[in-house]
Amino acid sequence: MLKELLEEKDYLPILKMNDGSPVTRENWGARRQEMLELLYEYSYGRSPEKAEFITGEISSAKYNEYAGKVIEENVNIRFRTSYGFGYVPFTLYTPKRFKNPPVLLHIAFRPAPDKYIPVEEITDRGYALAVVCYESIINDKHFGDFSGGLGRHFDMTIEREPNEWGKIGMWAYGASIVLDYLLTRDDLDGEHVSVMGHSRLGKTALWAGALDERFFTVISNDSGYGGAASSKKGKGERVRDFIRGGSWDWYCERFKDYVDEKEDEKPYDQSFLLALVAPRYLVVGSATEDRGADPEAEFLTTLHASAAWELLGKPGLICPDEMPEPDKAFHDGSVGYHLRTGKHFLSREDWNYYMDFIDKKIGRK
Ligand code: GCU
Repeated sequence: MLKELLEEKDYLPILKMNDGSPVTRENWGARRQEMLELLYEYSYGRSPEKAEFITGEISSAKYNEYAGKVIEENVNIRFRTSYGFGYVPFTLYTPKRFKNPPVLLHIAFRPAPDKYIPVEEITDRGYALAVVCYESIINDKHFGDFSGGLGRHFDMTIEREPNEWGKIGMWAYGASIVLDYLLTRDDLDGEHVSVMGHSRLGKTALWAGALDERFFTVISNDSGYGGAASSKKGKGERVRDFIRGGSWDWYCERFKDYVDEKEDEKPYDQSFLLALVAPRYLVVGSATEDRGADPEAEFLTTLHASAAWELLGKPGLICPDEMPEPDKAFHDGSVGYHLRTGKHFLSREDWNYYMDFIDKKIGRK
């Protein structure tokens, strides 16, 4: 059944090079590069060279938060590029009872603490939590405005080139800077730092995880198109919606060229983004009532992308041969998926599914 549904969608192949020749394990690296290039050129734009990490300064700390179980630190990271020095602030929550905890790096809508981020539940499960607020990397208030944050750092004062990066690329770049810092901390498990985000920040987490192979698990919650969902024969957002809504600046300028009747002629698709995570771990979460993000497309795109894992000798998404039942997690493969009942939201249930998945992969109870 799923095979037929995928055939109907007719997604772009992952296991074919641009010239039509087959992809094998041996030339996977070349295929990966091709897909990355397409996403750079047509979707997210090109990110500048990686920043050099300089220092992480703890600007304030509380040692007895959440019934005394958690240390909360505000950290200001200093980095350098050829444009000079820059800063990314974030907050780190570390559970005291667990030695070298794995880390969830949450690219968030608001700075911590925030009522939508269940810090106590997360740290009680033995995870450290790093929260970076996306607007401390670049604002999302004024569309097309690159005058603050990283835009200002990189002196983006003139019109963008067609393939120059957009805000998703910038937020992802900021997440990698936070990762640089996390890896300097010997009280954290640097082998197991996972990146996650919801909605536009789910798109961002996927792009961050695609670009930065140091992330252990890449987690997308309700990311929709631009994230885990292809728009091809889909029911959710399309390029037109981003232009209408003003949020085209999340992408490069060329993204806008493939609008309306040109939409299905895009030379790239979202399954490419997901496949770039292979052979590492990927988890996609959807919600039943999330029309914009198109849960059906999120699932089928994820399933389609699974081919990359299978090529590399890892199990992709393992699930029954039918559309997924809500409120069941499919965590047996290297690619996980769940469809939560309810609306577009990053809920406690979603957080628990993601931690269940990581627990399973790192062999924790
Ligand atoms: C808008 C946007 C979506 C996005 C969402 C969000 O609805 O069109 O693509 O995922 O915002 O980030 O909340």
